[in-house]
Order: sequence, then structure tokens, then C-alpha cells
Amino acid sequence: MSVQISPSILSADFARLAEEAQAVEGADWLHVDVMDNHFVPNLTLGVPVVEALRKATGIPLDCHLMIEQPDRWAPAYVEAGAGSVTFHAEAAAAPVRLAREIRAKGARASMALKPATPIEPYEDLLPELDMLLIMTVEPGFGGQAFLDIMLPKIRRTRALIERHGLEMWLQVDGGVSAETIERCAEAGADVFVAGSAVYGTDDPAAAVKALREQATS
Ligand code: DX5
Ligand code: ZN
Repeated sequence: MSVQISPSILSADFARLAEEAQAVEGADWLHVDVMDNHFVPNLTLGVPVVEALRKATGIPLDCHLMIEQPDRWAPAYVEAGAGSVTFHAEAAAAPVRLAREIRAKGARASMALKPATPIEPYEDLLPELDMLLIMTVEPGFGGQAFLDIMLPKIRRTRALIERHGLEMWLQVDGGVSAETIERCAEAGADVFVAGSAVYGTDDPAAAVKALREQATS
């Protein structure tokens, strides 16, 4: 299983986003957290910033939409240049139609589950997705402690992916660090979002490299 690291710019300096994006050269993705102050109690950025980031870096953008009405907004993020768009299962009105629309527009389609949302009701939807994101904190803020209680869900999801013979990726987001990444990898995750563990250090590129080594060890 190949490991991918997706640094979250939520923990970067928003006044220097272009430089911060370039500071993680070597990362597989740049994770862009879109929050609307309705789905989560925080507000971040929208389509214009994604368009600007697209021009500032060659790293593909991994947009995580923590917003209501993703059915209405997700396609605009593909048009803005996202390589992957993640919507939340709890917010999507028609997740199958939305995943198909994201794919048809040329991006990878991904669905996220908050900590209290089980994977089992979504088993039959997995073939429609390129990635499943299991939140390992309550979405809304960077720098929160990793929820170890999510490890069984990661394991169950990996087992479902294998049972169905799918190629899809399994991402974890929230509290992923040098201390927790091995547990996530061992449970079956292969795409790792890390905000404070990358941008909270003096050398973000070195932090990405170190996380990748820890996940593969
Ligand atoms: C939280 C966001 C995360 C956040 C992770 O709701 O979805 O992507 O940036 O930050 P850390 O890695 O600091 O927990
Ligand atoms: Zn995120």
C-alpha cells in the first residue's frame, strides 16, 4: 500500500499562503479545509482562494468541504482546480449523484465521515468513491488530539474496501502526527492529512518526509 501525505494549510500562515504551499514541496497533496460556519463552527476560505492556490503550486489540491449544501458547491471546487474534492456524508443530499458529478468534471470524488457517523450504511456507495475520509477529530479546528476510538472504524473500512476489491484510498484527518501516524497506518489508512504536525514545525518539508517514513515503517 503506497503512503500519501497531505499537509493541511489550516495550520499555515494565511497571509503567506503561496510560500506556505511551496514549503511542502514533496508532499503528495495540499489539503485545503473549506469551512462555512454552519456545518462546523469555524470559517475559513472559498473558491477564490482555491483558484489562487492552484496558480501558486504544482501540488494537487485536496479540498475538504466542511460545508452545508455540498451538492451545490462541490462542482465549483473542481472548476477552481481541485484534484480531489471531499464532501461530508452528513451534509450531502444525494451523495451518489454528487460523487458522479465530481468525477465527470475530472476530479477524484471523496466522502468524509464525522467521528459519530458509521461506515456501514455507506458500504454500497464505496464503488462510487475514489477516497473515503475518516475524521479522527470533530471537524472544525486544527491542533486537536487524535481520537484513538476511531481506529476500529479505520480497520472496518479497510476490510470493506478489501472485501469489495476496490482501489479506493482511505484518508485520516485530525491529530495525525509522528506519535499517531503509525497507528493509523497499521489500521489501514494510506492517505494522511497533517496540519499542526507539518506547519507547526520549523521545517515543513522535513516534517512531511518524516511522517512518510513513519507511516511506511
Ligand atoms: C479539521 C480539519 C483538518 C485540520 C487538521 O477539521 O479538517 O484538516 O487541519 O489539523 P491537525 O493535523 O492539526 O489536527
Ligand atoms: Zn481537513
